[in-house]
Amino acid sequence: MLKGKHIVLGITGGIAAYKSATLIRLLVKRGAEVQVVITPSGKEFITPVTLSALTGKPVICDFFTANTGQWNSHVDIGLWADAMVIAPATACTIGKMANGIADNMLVTTYLSAKAPVFVAPAMDLDMMAHPSTTRNIETLRSYGNHIIEPASGELASHLIGKGRMEEPEKIVEVLEQFFATDKPLAGKKVLLTAGPTYERIDPVRFIGNFSTGKMGYALADAAARMGAEVTLISGPVAIKPNERTVEVVNVESACQMRDAAVEHFPGSDIAIMCAAVADYAPADPHDHKIKRETDEIPTIRLVKNPDIAATLGQMKREGQTLVGFALETDNGKANAERKIRSKNLDMIVLNSLSDPGAGFGTDTNIVTMIQPDGESKTLPLMQKTEVAREIMQAITEIHKS
Ligand code: PMT
Repeated sequence: MLKGKHIVLGITGGIAAYKSATLIRLLVKRGAEVQVVITPSGKEFITPVTLSALTGKPVICDFFTANTGQWNSHVDIGLWADAMVIAPATACTIGKMANGIADNMLVTTYLSAKAPVFVAPAMDLDMMAHPSTTRNIETLRSYGNHIIEPASGELASHLIGKGRMEEPEKIVEVLEQFFATDKPLAGKKVLLTAGPTYERIDPVRFIGNFSTGKMGYALADAAARMGAEVTLISGPVAIKPNERTVEVVNVESACQMRDAAVEHFPGSDIAIMCAAVADYAPADPHDHKIKRETDEIPTIRLVKNPDIAATLGQMKREGQTLVGFALETDNGKANAERKIRSKNLDMIVLNSLSDPGAGFGTDTNIVTMIQPDGESKTLPLMQKTEVAREIMQAITEIHKS
């Protein structure tokens, strides 16, 4: 996919600049041509000699090369690129890109580039969480740039949190997916549910669950990359899809999710129910906060929520594919097989909370895809992004047949 592609790699002054060497090696190995444009502070973290040895090209930092008199045209570099990747992208460079502050070769090239731009932020967790950084990243997203979200883990400061530049292998994978010409879901509409639902007890309290939306959002991105038009009905989560084309419908409760799903399902070719829907809701949510200044312990009477997957299962017409998830703690396969029948599904994806690294909140999952005839395929522990790709490929095959 990357053979012959021209990649401009922008490197800025962050400790993760050491990973750029690996990134270049991986890109060159796949047949890409890489041109490095580095900021002056980037050179403090990795030397141009290393980078140019790996790319086979001089590293560009300045508008003008003093010893040869050569003028480095940011316009030409921008036009040469099939993709521009800024990795690592510091808070400073992200801020400059968001605001058009073209005071170095890298940002000037960025402003001239017509190619898709991929930004892999890397910084300390508090810088990452600062409203200014968040706003600048959102601005870049709104320009159509692809943000390769940083991972969580131990940072250069030894603090633990979100801010580690994504691994070079992952960045290459994002590029490969982008350039994949194969769009098997082009022209197809995919509907997804993701995240938890919140069922109000009173204006400040709710019944919910630990779903973060990571699995469902990864599926939405994977479907969009395969060419589908994606509608994602999402419960309250703190994440966003990476693919700009994904249309998000935000809901809070199971009833709101059911209403949105019922509205969108008739126009969909494929529907995937990944949300962790609360099975019960308070029967009489209070309009005012329940006070604790009384000896009486309140009792919350619950009513059953609608089963969204089963509702769509009843509505399903010829040609539509409906896929559910099963989140189990025990008797996984038997429960999943029961759900596939009772909800009229074409496939169910079983994940179990008894498997370490699977289920809620993790970046990884372990799933078994089960079909109505009992045929099943278990995937090993993988990143949710990779699991999503495998699931979407399996669903595409089912939908075709
Ligand atoms: O969001 P993450 O933190 O990444 O976690 C991902 C996940 C664990 C939430 C996800 O992988 C998952 O398993 N989602 C389904 C959770 C669930 O509710 O499973 P269930 O076995 O209770 O439900 C079976 C199926 O019916 C699911 O497709 C569910 O969306 C659907 N359902 C359930 C209840 C209900 N009232 N309406 C429904 O549509």
